[in-house]
Amino acid sequence: MGRVFVAGSINMDVVATAERHPRVGETVAGSAVLYFPGGKGANQAVAAAKLGAATALIGRLGKDAFGQELRTFLAAQGVDLRFVKDTSEAHTGTAIITVADADNTIVVVPGANAMVSPEDVAAPALTKGDIAVSQFEVPQATITAFFKYARAAGATTILNPAPARKFDSELLDLVDILILNETELGFLSGRKLRDSGNRDRLIDAARSLAGRDRIVCVTLGKRGALALVGGEPLMVPGREVKAIDTTGAGDCFVGALASRLARGSSLRDALGYANAAASICVQRLGAAPSMPTAAEVKDVLANEPTSTRP
Ligand code: RIB
Repeated sequence: MGRVFVAGSINMDVVATAERHPRVGETVAGSAVLYFPGGKGANQAVAAAKLGAATALIGRLGKDAFGQELRTFLAAQGVDLRFVKDTSEAHTGTAIITVADADNTIVVVPGANAMVSPEDVAAPALTKGDIAVSQFEVPQATITAFFKYARAAGATTILNPAPARKFDSELLDLVDILILNETELGFLSGRKLRDSGNRDRLIDAARSLAGRDRIVCVTLGKRGALALVGGEPLMVPGREVKAIDTTGAGDCFVGALASRLARGSSLRDALGYANAAASICVQRLGAAPSMPTAAEVKDVLANEPTSTRP
């Protein structure tokens, strides 16, 4: 059984809930301020750990109250924190989030996440069968170093290029599985896609990032997910649930997929599993605390008609 190594961000999410989002220059009254553990790296690591994979996080925290609180929370979720360093040179990463009508806006201030270094990601001993996961809230040079190292060790690399940002072909060439949402796919492929619902356009855009044998998986929210495997599209149907907060749902998908691949599941099974896990996540408020347990996902899958399985 492989392990999951996530090199990524750890944030405290400061969440304001309101009935609607303010327009630029406008003030609206909110209903609550909440503090949730988050950060794409931490969220993905929590999802993988809660779903049963031996999971280690590689990252940085500030030496402050948020840092201490996040360390305690992550340890309680079963995430191995041996490779998470405390630094006095920056504050703990912080995200300012507004949630209204089940949708969010996020401003991330990286702080200590910007200091995760190529030396940090060389610390754990990866081996064949392990899964190396990263996203764009830590420096790209660090991700490139991590994936080079992971590839040399025989591990599978998963990149979630979020928040979307242009990146060079050296990094893309090191990616085995690219997982991104429609907005990120549109940005990176240079095509207009958001909520297009046009399968052919999606496939065409995904192909532009697939190269010769990279798997590209596009998460489509309530419409499920579409993966391009060996150039062939594989559709994972959406699930009818009442979403209250989509923050961290994409991270849940990534962490769940990594956990299943680490235990040797087929890609098709892992995609269906990740889709079910994310459908649970969106029904709860907050990012990392919304990640489901393996028992919860099992329950959802047991109650679904076989016709809706990928
Ligand atoms: O993907 C959701 C995450 O993005 C939040 O937890 C927030 O910290 C930002 O990093």
